[in-house]
This record gives sequence, structure tokens and C-alpha cells, in this order.
Amino acid sequence: MADSSTFYLILTLLLACNAYANGCYTSIISFGDSLADTGNLKLLSENSVGHVPHFMFPPYGDTFFHKPTGRCSNGRLIIDFVAESLGLRLIPPSQGNFTFNETGLRQGVNYAVAGATALDSSFHEARGISTNRNISLGVQLGWFKESLPLICSTVSDCKHLIGRSLVLVGEIGGNDYNHALESGKSIAEVETYVPFVINTIISTVNELIELGAKTLVIPGNLPIGCSATYLTIFYGSDKVQYDNSTGCITQLNKFAEYHNELLKIALNQIREVYPEVNIIYADYFNAAMQVFLSPNAYGFTNGALNACCGGGGPFNYNTSVACADPLSTTCAEPDKYFNWDGLHLTEAAYMFIFKSLFEGSYTTPQFKSVCPTSRLQQVEGLSSSM
Ligand SMILES: *[C@@H]1O[C@H](CO)[C@@H](O)[C@H](O)[C@H]1NC(C)=O
Ligand SMILES: *[C@@H]1O[C@H](CO)[C@@H](O)[C@H](O)[C@H]1NC(C)=O
Ligand SMILES: *[C@@H]1O[C@H](CO)[C@@H](O)[C@H](O)[C@H]1NC(C)=O
Ligand SMILES: *[C@@H]1O[C@H](CO)[C@@H](O)[C@H](O)[C@H]1NC(C)=O
Ligand SMILES: *[C@@H]1O[C@H](CO)[C@@H](O)[C@H](O)[C@H]1NC(C)=O
Repeated sequence: MADSSTFYLILTLLLACNAYANGCYTSIISFGDSLADTGNLKLLSENSVGHVPHFMFPPYGDTFFHKPTGRCSNGRLIIDFVAESLGLRLIPPSQGNFTFNETGLRQGVNYAVAGATALDSSFHEARGISTNRNISLGVQLGWFKESLPLICSTVSDCKHLIGRSLVLVGEIGGNDYNHALESGKSIAEVETYVPFVINTIISTVNELIELGAKTLVIPGNLPIGCSATYLTIFYGSDKVQYDNSTGCITQLNKFAEYHNELLKIALNQIREVYPEVNIIYADYFNAAMQVFLSPNAYGFTNGALNACCGGGGPFNYNTSVACADPLSTTCAEPDKYFNWDGLHLTEAAYMFIFKSLFEGSYTTPQFKSVCPTSRLQQVEGLSSSM
């Protein structure tokens, strides 16, 4: 009795000392691409001349924020739901004007940029593939290291802060393949890039652990063979086969699974070197595959393959008429669609994936065994279903 009441007293004191709601993490540090960008590419574009990304215009953001925020969706992304569930504010983009105070900054920073590749642009340029900007995973890690003095004052303060953060490394790598496939490289050639992409992700994870990270979430690739983009690019081509149960392109989904298998093997190796670090693999592929197999069962009654917003065609995706272009159209009920604009997903889809990962069983180890669900907050419902 005495032992257990002492235990609860200590536990209560520990919880009382924590200034954060969830008792698991004080902060989120995020790297990645458009699946996690909460405004970086928008800010980078505003500060430079040239092409303005189409996702800086309505209907992007319409469902939740009621304005474009730089997120490639109609509303919140997986990272937003993670922040909400941890009782943190939405994680600001690193390229923002840090007018908020040190306390605010210490709740997390997001370095993810839409369009980012895992590999540096020199890799792609050497193969004749153009990548848009100097925003690769290595560049993002560089920004993080440069911004550390703003966030923490000493090496041990920084280690402590990073150790109490949830560090999201990805999804990243999808664009290394997208850019190459879209520029006409064969699936077989792009397959040879996978080990390079995995090595880059792994060396970033190792460096973050050296900087103090104790809990990292590393997502795999989505089933890209189900993306309206590829379904349109390969439409009518005899170069690919389709999976009868989903309508997705078999070779591209196998490709994504190959990336994921190599990633999982490499993560196991890191777990052996750092047994005290939580290395959490996030299975985006199978979480999303639930919906591609039975869209109606999960409320995606308009099917999982057609884009809500786009320029028409068999999947409402057209490479020359992007979502938000004057000639594009937007569906009336985005929450009933999985695919938002061809390449990216709707808020409803991201919420579904978030729940499968962070409340369900689609992470290894299960997130709820690392941070108990009882410590998490219910995420706010979808705005249109309220
Ligand atoms: C940054 O903030 C300052 C002060 O609020 C403002 O004058 C400046 O225009 C901002 N810069 C950008 C790039 O938003
Ligand atoms: C610091 O920022 C946080 C988050 O934005 C805010 O809640 C808090 O009131 C701010 N503190 C001060 C002293 O301005
Ligand atoms: C990319 O950005 C990094 C850091 O901001 C800089 O050091 C490097 O010179 C840039 N490279 C190119 C090719 O612009
Ligand atoms: C898929 O559908 C095609 C055409 O309906 C059929 O010929 C083929 O046997 C089916 N394959 C499987 C694995 O069910
Ligand atoms: C894409 O849109 C353009 C411009 O409206 C049109 O000319 C073209 O036929 C469309 N392509 C497809 C595949 O629908």
C-alpha cells in the first residue's frame, strides 16, 4: 500500500511538473514533403520571384482554415492531428517569421517543404531530372541545426528539448520517385534509387538521435499506384497492370512496398544500435490500403481514386489543369473523397490515416504503447460533419 501510494504521489508530482497536456512530448519537430508542409513552400515562394504554387489559392484550406495556408489539402494534415492530440498548437513552418516567443517555438517547428526530396538535387540533376528547389531532407536538417540557438541555449538544454520532442522524419522519398517517374524514367530505373533514398533517411535519423532525439516516427511511402496522378499518366497504357480489388497500378504499389521493406530493415538495424530510442515505423501504405480496398466502409462514398478537385478526365486529374486553376472543379463534399487534388489527400483521408496510426495498430511499435491513448486528446471532428 505504502509503495503504491508513494508511486502515485511521485507520478502526480511528475505530471504536475510537466507544462504540457499529454505528458509524453513537449514539442514536435518535423521534416518531410507536401504531406507535412504547413506553409514552408508558400513562405519560400512569397519571398522569391517566380512560380506561385497552385495550392496557395482556394479551394486549398477551404474546409478547415477557410483560406489557403500552404497545406496541400482542403484542411488539416496528419501532423496537425498529431499536434491536436498531444495538446500542442499547430506546428508553425520554420520559414515563418518567428514573432512568437521562445516558449511558443519550443512547442515545435516544422521544416517540411512541399516538393522536397530525400536526396539532394545533385543526385537528380546527374540523371537529367529537375527538382524544384534546394529543399531536400539534408537541407531541412541543416535549417534545424541552424535554428537550434533560437530554441535552446546550451548543448544539454537542446538535447533535453529534442529528447522530449516527437520527431517526425517524413514521409520523405516519395518525390524522389515522383519527379523521376513524371520525367519519364522507367519504374525499373527508379527502383535503383531506393537504396540511396533509404540511406539518406537513415543517416538523418542517426544524426537526430545524436542530437538527442528519443522518439522518432518514420513513415513509409503511400500506395502510389492508387494515386490519381499515376492512374492518369498511365491511363490506357499497356505498360502497367491493375489490381482488380482496388483499381490501383500493381507495379507502382509493389514499388512503394519495396521502399517500405528496405526502410523497415534499416530501422531494425538502428533499433539494435540504440535500444533506448523509440524508433516508430508508420505504415502509411497499409493504413491507406484499408480505404482503397473498401472505400464505402470508411465513408469515402465517392470512391478512393477520383480526385475531389481537378481538371477533369477519368480521375478528375489533368497535368495541365491543376486544382485551383480557373478551369478546375471542386466536389461538393470533400469529406466523402479520399483523394484531394490528384497527388494529395483530403483532410478526411489524413484524419483517417492519423487515427489508424496513432490510435490504431498501424505503427510499429504501436504509438499507443509508447504514449498511452489516455494521455491523448480527442481530435476535433471534421468541420463539415459538425
Ligand atoms: C516579418 O515580421 C516583420 C514584423 O512583424 C514584418 O515587418 C516583415 O514584413 C515580416 N517578414 C515577412 C517575410 O513576413
Ligand atoms: C508565448 O507563446 C505561447 C504560444 O504561442 C503563448 O501561449 C504564451 O502566452 C506566450 N507567452 C508570452 C509571455 O508571450
Ligand atoms: C542550398 O542551401 C544550403 C543551405 O541553405 C546552402 O548552403 C547551399 O549552398 C544551397 N545550395 C544550392 C545549390 O543552392
Ligand atoms: C482481373 O480481372 C480480369 C478481367 O476481368 C480477369 O481476366 C482476371 O482474371 C482478374 N484477375 C484476378 C486476379 O482476379
Ligand atoms: C486537360 O486539359 C486540357 C485543357 O483544358 C485539355 O486540352 C486536355 O484535353 C485535357 N486532358 C485530359 C487528359 O483530359
